[in-house]
Amino acid sequence: MPYEKELSHEVFEKFQELIYHEIGINLSEHKRTLVQTRLRKWLIKFELNSYSELYEKIADDKSDQMLIMLVNAITTNVTSFFREDSQWIYLLQNIDTMFDRENKRIRIWSAACSSGEEPYSILMFLKEHLNDFHKWDIKILATDISENMLQHAQNGIYEEKNMQSIPKHMKYKYFIPAIGKNGGKAFAIKDELKKYIIFRSFNLVTGDYTIFKNKFDVIFCRNVMIYFDRKTQDQLLFEFTNLLRKGSRVFVGHSESIQNKKLNYKLVSPSIYQLK
Ligand SMILES: C[S@@+](CC[C@H](N)C(=O)[O-])C[C@H]1O[C@@H](n2cnc3c(N)ncnc32)[C@H](O)[C@@H]1O
Repeated sequence: MPYEKELSHEVFEKFQELIYHEIGINLSEHKRTLVQTRLRKWLIKFELNSYSELYEKIADDKSDQMLIMLVNAITTNVTSFFREDSQWIYLLQNIDTMFDRENKRIRIWSAACSSGEEPYSILMFLKEHLNDFHKWDIKILATDISENMLQHAQNGIYEEKNMQSIPKHMKYKYFIPAIGKNGGKAFAIKDELKKYIIFRSFNLVTGDYTIFKNKFDVIFCRNVMIYFDRKTQDQLLFEFTNLLRKGSRVFVGHSESIQNKKLNYKLVSPSIYQLK
């Protein structure tokens, strides 16, 4: 079936607006070719003739799944176990003072958890380094906008080639051998670790932050704010201030930062902010 070759400026503008309102991503004009390339295969897949038909299909989709596929097409889900070395060193140095020792309670939010490497790293870290791990009440909330990523995270199966950053002794302690996607070697996270993590879908831009009933000791919000404009970043960092205890931390990606002084965070280590 012949399909439109070029994503026109007018239709691109409609996509820009939709993406900004629903996901908070500000796509600049120079991303037009990228979007066109990524969406071309959708025209074929859904047997559509034009980008404007595709726009209507996405905008009309009540389940939001098309929108999420669109996010996946323009952002990346790249992640890894124990990403950003210096942040794990900071955690190790501060583990005795960061959490509520009196109530022995830890609440951590991995706010764009992708395929789960981040929340599982947090849990393995706590298992390795927290004294009396079993005496603590620990919950990690892991959210993402993408249902596919959450499904992957919940399955907890990882190709061996993507597990290089896990120390060998930990790999065998916390995972069991499994079969990967194409029959390759993989490992599955043990069920005993999964029980500490709650996986949920949550859109950081349009989500309702009043659903969170507990305060967090740490929020990991890494490598996702980079897609949002400053206003959207400030808005979600403001929402976080209501969800953190005084002195709690936000971990961001190494190319992200909190600029707005009014938000009451102070930088305590590279890419780590503490609520004043
Ligand atoms: C590059 S990954 C970061 C994964 C992990 N935090 C890390 O640093 O390794 C970015 C993730 O953000 C998610 N994402 C993009 N926009 C989002 C939004 N508006 N709300 C929630 N998650 C979003 C994507 O689905 C993707 O899984």
